[in-house]
Amino acid sequence: MDDLDGVVAEALEVFAAAGDPASLEQSKARYLGKAGRLTEALKSLGKLDPAERREAGARINAAKEQIEGALAARRDALMEAELEARLRGEAVDVTLPGRMRARGSVHPVIRTWRRVEDIFRSIGFAVADGPEIETDWYNFTALNQPENHPARSMHDTFYVEGGLLLRTHTSPMQVRYARTHEPPIKVIAPGRTYRVDSDATHSPMFHQVEGLWIDENISFADLKGVYTDFLRRFFETDQLDVRFRPSFFPFTEPSAEIDMAFSSGPLKGRWLEISGSGQVHPQVIRNFGLDPERHIGFAFGSGLERLTMLRYGVGDLRLFFEGDVRFLEQFA
Ligand code: PHE
Repeated sequence: MDDLDGVVAEALEVFAAAGDPASLEQSKARYLGKAGRLTEALKSLGKLDPAERREAGARINAAKEQIEGALAARRDALMEAELEARLRGEAVDVTLPGRMRARGSVHPVIRTWRRVEDIFRSIGFAVADGPEIETDWYNFTALNQPENHPARSMHDTFYVEGGLLLRTHTSPMQVRYARTHEPPIKVIAPGRTYRVDSDATHSPMFHQVEGLWIDENISFADLKGVYTDFLRRFFETDQLDVRFRPSFFPFTEPSAEIDMAFSSGPLKGRWLEISGSGQVHPQVIRNFGLDPERHIGFAFGSGLERLTMLRYGVGDLRLFFEGDVRFLEQFA
């Protein structure tokens, strides 16, 4: 009883030493609980005479207030500390570098595909799409390719079940489109094509773009003009020459290979074959359901890989299909 100051001092010390709310609440019982030191002291008041009791009661109450005050203060401090610690633990360091998600890019051949579409669209050509699994008729017969033509052999063509095949060129799209549209027709049909072939300049899957122009009063000069203009815009230079070299395709007559040569730059003066072309054969015009006496057609079929290799200076076609990001990144 006379040591109230000692009890207060001890309580303050014990509270200060409590490192977390749980142990603080536990030590509280030692002073303020039912069997706590102050409660004991209050109980003993009954033994005192009234004058002493009042005075002692006041002292005990003062001590109790001090202890309760200290307890509340310590409670607040501990809660504050706990909150601080939690906030520190959950803190986000906004200066850390982000977790980057690698960004993909458009494949160079697809870039070419899109450029070709843009250029031809801008001069009034429609863009058509068709099946990669074709019938024999569209891929060969309708294009005047006779039954015994070497291109029809297993060495060159992937045959699939049901007498179907993977189209060996985009030319079947000439037939599909012309049979379902009225002339005048101006269309390109880019897409995947397949041949049993694989080396530095051939891949079993590759891309072509077919072009077909049917009207009543057009000539080879129109095809030359359009194709030359296309090449100048595709390569973004007028520094190139174009020549039409006589050739043979069963579905065109006359037929020509289109060659081009840059007249400046590292490839200067080297002629490169870029496309097949020709005037659509009268029998093929008939297979379109049209009259060759009335309608003239011009067609071309160009390799998209070839155009891409020339535009970016890529030496080996296989690079396009290996999926090596070090190669592909350069076109991002
Ligand atoms: N289809 C021919 C080939 O793949 C190219 C071509 C298309 C030739 C149109 C003439 C006309 O080689």
